[in-house]
Amino acid sequence: MTLYLTREEEAMLNGEMGEARQRALEIIVALAKIYEAERLLPITSVQVSGVSYKNLGEAGLEFLEDWASSGATVTVPTTLNPAGIDLDDWAEVGFDKGFSEKQLKVIEVFKSLGITPTCTCTPYLAGNVPKFGDHIAWGESSAVSFANSVIGARTNREGGPSALASAICGKTAAYGYHLDENRKAKYKVNVEVEVESFSDFGALGYWTGIKLKNAVPFFTGIKKADNDLLKQLGAAAAASGGIALYHIEGITAEARAAEMLSEDYDELTFTADDLKEIYAELNSGGNELDLVVFGCPHASIEEIKYIASKVKGSKLKVPIWITSSKPVKEVAKRAGYDKLIEKAGGKILSDMCAVVAPMKSFGFKHIAVNSGKYLWYLRNQGFEIKFGSTDECINAAIRGAWYDTKS
Ligand code: F3S
Repeated sequence: MTLYLTREEEAMLNGEMGEARQRALEIIVALAKIYEAERLLPITSVQVSGVSYKNLGEAGLEFLEDWASSGATVTVPTTLNPAGIDLDDWAEVGFDKGFSEKQLKVIEVFKSLGITPTCTCTPYLAGNVPKFGDHIAWGESSAVSFANSVIGARTNREGGPSALASAICGKTAAYGYHLDENRKAKYKVNVEVEVESFSDFGALGYWTGIKLKNAVPFFTGIKKADNDLLKQLGAAAAASGGIALYHIEGITAEARAAEMLSEDYDELTFTADDLKEIYAELNSGGNELDLVVFGCPHASIEEIKYIASKVKGSKLKVPIWITSSKPVKEVAKRAGYDKLIEKAGGKILSDMCAVVAPMKSFGFKHIAVNSGKYLWYLRNQGFEIKFGSTDECINAAIRGAWYDTKS
């Protein structure tokens, strides 16, 4: 396969637009050759993953500093994934000072590259919103799923270095989900049970990811789903499998506009028994609970509003942490939701994610979640996880135990 480059791309590759853009384009061209792309595509937006110092370590920080010292700056709107701490309130929450200082240094280096330090996995709720059909280069699997499926933009699951290279040179390689032929579903998933809550949608995503790995599913039988429910479905399917794009009949962007089911598809059915089994399997452990965490993907203002209304006037026996983006937290503050949640014994934490934060340093062992993605990663890190609806998790936080042994 021959890779065609435009005159502008050739000039960039020859160093005529500076060393940093040359180096960035070399990375994109190398990827284009590996994936046999015929051309490169201009992009409109980047989301960079690999932001937590917990994952980057010194080697990652040095890699970023090297880019910054070459004078690199991003050329398209670029935002960041969650970090390992709340960037403003880390000391108050109790994060380790040494770790926090390293994390803040990472953010400073990203800022020097011209990147907006939003630190969220829901950039689409924080101003980085691509349009239908836009080619973008996003890391963060749940955001990739949302952009591809709900918005109808086009991105592969980028790694940190490739997304950063795309941000600097403004290009990506035309392969994978950028191409029409890879966006049709090869599996039809008939959902025969009513899925309603965040955890139901998370359970469906969890089940689908395990069954289909990274194939594209086409769901039928889902009657309604708002953006918060869709982000739960996509995040869980991206975590338990590697699903980067899904369609829901009559609901998601491309499924409303065209036939997105391949002619030769296989079929699966998700039943009430499947849903029941998932909850039973995941909640088979003991009754202990140390923490409830919401906000995976980062909570929207509607989610925070709902939680605030439910905890209002209560005294939580187990704390609730809600991870969200800074802009959403600011709106929650203005609306007074933060005060209601804090008075009950909870917190809204911005810029961070429990998966990439040093959670074990707080001594938590038993955590309840309403998210299929938090469930997947926190369980893999050795936490005992309880999985239920937002209401079940809040009620458990109020009584201080997962099961209601009185009923
Ligand atoms: Fe976001 Fe972390 Fe969940 S990055 S999607 S809150 S695992």
